[in-house]
This record gives sequence, C-alpha cells and structure tokens, in this order.
Amino acid sequence: MLLDWYDRHARVLPWRMPPGAGRQDPYRVWLSEIMLQQTTVAAVAAYYRRFLALWPTVEALAAADDADVMGEWAGLGYYARARNLLKCARVVAGSGFPDTYDGLIALPGVGPYTAAAIAAIAFDRPEAVVDGNVERVMARLHALETPLPKLKDEVRALVAGEVPDNRPGDFAQAMMDLGATICTPRSPACGICPLSDGCKARGNAPETYPRRAAKVPKPERQGFVYVARRPDGALLTERRPPKGLLGGMLAFPTGPWGDDAVPAPPMTANWTRAGEVKHTFTHFHLTLTVMVAEVPDGEGFEPRLRPSDLPSLMRKVHDVAQDWFQRH
Ligand code: ADE
Repeated sequence: MLLDWYDRHARVLPWRMPPGAGRQDPYRVWLSEIMLQQTTVAAVAAYYRRFLALWPTVEALAAADDADVMGEWAGLGYYARARNLLKCARVVAGSGFPDTYDGLIALPGVGPYTAAAIAAIAFDRPEAVVDGNVERVMARLHALETPLPKLKDEVRALVAGEVPDNRPGDFAQAMMDLGATICTPRSPACGICPLSDGCKARGNAPETYPRRAAKVPKPERQGFVYVARRPDGALLTERRPPKGLLGGMLAFPTGPWGDDAVPAPPMTANWTRAGEVKHTFTHFHLTLTVMVAEVPDGEGFEPRLRPSDLPSLMRKVHDVAQDWFQRH
C-alpha cells in the first residue's frame, strides 16, 4: 500500500533515483542525508547540487581544502556536520563506504538515523529509518501516547517490525515523504493518505500527535562582535576554533556570549556601536552588539571577503557593519 503510493507520488529530489531503481550511490545518499539533518529539503537542494558539482566523488571531497568545504557549507548551519563530513570522507576515500549499519555508524558524523538511512537506501538493508517525519507518522498510526523525546525508541522498535525485505530503501523514503507531504505537523491530509484505514489517530485530533514534553524556553545570551576595516576595505576576520559553535567557520571576532555583554575588542581602535543582530541557535537566543572601527593597518584582514563564506549570523553582522561604513 505504502510502496504503491510511493511509486506514484515519490517526491522528485536531486539526490534521489526514481522509485524501484534499487541501490543508490552511497556517496550521494550520505552527502544528502548529512545535509538534511536539522535542515529542510528546500534549503539543502542548492547546496547539494554545488557540492556534487565541485566534488563528484568521496575521493574528490577527501582531497578538498578544509576552508573551501567550510566556505561552501556556510549558511547551512550546524557546522560540526561539515567538519565531520570531511573527516568521514577522508576515512572512506579509497576503501568505499561500509555496507552495514554497524560499519556505517562507526564513521565520523554518522548517527543511528544516518547509518540506517544509508544502509537501507544505498545497500538494501532492512533497517528501521526513523526521523522526525517517521516519528509523527508512527505516533499517529498507532496513537502513541509516549511523549518525545522518549517516543523515538518505541517508534524504532515498531518500524523495525514493519520494514519489508523487499525495497527497504523505498519504504524508508516513502515513510519520510508521507510525513513531509500528507501526514504534516499541523494539517494532515487524512482524506488522501494511503495508511488512513489503519490509522488510530484519524478523526481523533491527529495533529496533536506526537505528544511532547513541556518545552523549556530558550535562554537569552548577549555579546559584542567587532568589525574593523582598513583603508583598502579589508575586514578583520578570524577562523573560529574547531570545537564549539560555528566551529571552523570564518567569523568576525567576538567576546564571550553570556548573560551580560562583556566588551572584548580584538585591537585598540575607536570603536563605535553600529547596531545589533539577533540569531537563534538550538539552545539559546543570541543578541550581538555590532561594533565597528576604521583602522589604519593591521594583520589578519581579509581583502576579498565573500559574505557567502560566512555563517548566517556573521552575514547579518557583515550587513550591519557595511551599512554603517557606507553611511559614515
Ligand atoms: N529527509 C531526509 N532524508 C530523506 C529522504 N531520503 N527522503 C525523504 N525525506 C528525507
């Protein structure tokens, strides 16, 4: 039933072969699944196409410069994924991707979801692939009352019992597509759902599943960020340390982010407040005060800074600073 529906309604996605095509290139499956973690299909498509054009094989990616890969990832967020992407490519290059869940989950940046997805889609292994979409579909189908995040283990066990030996990769993708297009969070289209006959939540407030534990509000953090400009227009940048938020990315220097904004200018200059930027990370809201200065000279300035090489937070900072420099 589900596979019949998938044969007719599978979404056309840049990394996907048509239903029934069988095993897919593990490099493409891996690359797309890493990009899709915490990120929408709409946001990923252009990045995926660019990566594949620049680095068509895992060997090509393994040989890339770190800064080029981080620059191409800029704007996608969750930058640990890009650092692990490179690490993983360098492990796999030459030997190829392992073809089992256990082999895959040992790779850098590959968790239970991604290992199961690659094993099923690229290697036809009957693994239980559970992402947020599948959790929602299963919670409704079986009217599961366990709240998230505990629900995940229950769903994994249920899916494991339902994965067919025939076309497990298409089954996984069909479940995800169903969740993305029909069994949507707020207004599920039960009237056209291929699973509605056996669905326990149908007619019973399906949109209230999955249950979730009460949300804790995100804390607010503050800080300063500094944009210094030389007479030639070059801007002072730094590479963020590899661990931690925006790790490995090009950035403007900032002080610590905490309950209070603590000034921490990277150099002596006549700093002026240009404005403020706000950005939300997974676990907190951040407000940075943007400080700008014209400086006569200095080291560490980037004469050819492309805003597209910056993570989104730093693009916002760049916009505020450039706006100020233009007006003064
Ligand atoms: N979301 C993440 N991976 C996906 C896939 N392979 N198919 C559909 N939706 C997805």
